[in-house]
Amino acid sequence: MANEFTPSVGGTPSSSAGSPPSGEPRLRLVNINKSFGPVRALTDVSLELYPGEVIGLVGDNGAGKSTLVKSISGVNPADSGEIYLEGEHIKVTSPQVANKLGIETVYQDLALCDNLDIVGNLFLGREEQLFPFPQLAPLSEITMEKQTLEVLHTLDVKVPSVRVPVATLSGGQRQSVAVARTILRKAKVVLLDEPTAALGVAQTRQVLNLIKRLREQGYSVIVISHNLADVFEVVDRVIVLRLGKKVGTFNIKDTTPEKIVAAITGAEFGKLTKETNGNGNGTSGGSEL
Ligand SMILES: Nc1ncnc2c1ncn2[C@@H]1O[C@H](COP(=O)(O)OP(=O)(O)O)[C@@H](O)[C@H]1O
Ligand SMILES: [Mg+2]
Repeated sequence: MANEFTPSVGGTPSSSAGSPPSGEPRLRLVNINKSFGPVRALTDVSLELYPGEVIGLVGDNGAGKSTLVKSISGVNPADSGEIYLEGEHIKVTSPQVANKLGIETVYQDLALCDNLDIVGNLFLGREEQLFPFPQLAPLSEITMEKQTLEVLHTLDVKVPSVRVPVATLSGGQRQSVAVARTILRKAKVVLLDEPTAALGVAQTRQVLNLIKRLREQGYSVIVISHNLADVFEVVDRVIVLRLGKKVGTFNIKDTTPEKIVAAITGAEFGKLTKETNGNGNGTSGGSEL
């Protein structure tokens, strides 16, 4: 039924921050390649994302982070490579296909309707499912409000009222509404492209807490971020992309921001002072996990 709501789609989270992942990955990418004309945006990128795991995707501008997310979300399907969801080979040919499979993306612009309230935004495009019979319409309105309160409570999101237009909300609250919408659509995998880039300190904190709540609920999250402090606070593992290639996977418990910066820039950790050593082979200092 359309109005069934199960907050914990992933069952029991299988990992807490830092513990090594085990079991079947929820999402597995194998040798993803993507070019835009002559530009090779991604070369043989593979990764695994586990239930209840948050992965940070980092790298310099143009490293291929957004392209990788778009290949998973169906916006720009990969040229070659395989994607597996819970062990099943899937072809994500469009965002609609991704959504049906339980892969949801929140982009920086959020795509919320400012004039609609929170309930309206969460159920946008789903009304027809909720109103199969006109006589049920008033009940469905109440159900939608109830489910909105439930999902916001699950994610520990505080808003003045679910009936205020989203234009009146703070950046952090708007980000939370966009994430809540993915949960209501029964996401298994949530992709966040720079969720805190436009936010102040307090709002960033809200969003970081939200990501932690997603993990506690068993969702699998990939978060792109420029901010290593944020990354260190919320992720279990960090994947570094450089010039379209994966150059390192770091368990957050066993690494330092310096090592990750070295992987991002291609400098060998500990040898940053030797600018003229001709080290062009991109030693990452990262360890494959
Ligand atoms: N739609 C596109 N058309 C042409 N080139 C693109 C397109 N999207 C990304 N690129 C190129 O692919 C590379 C990776 O970009 P992107 O994934 O946006 O990097 P990041 O998100 O890490 O900053 C860059 O060289 C970028 O210019
Ligand atoms: Mg980007």
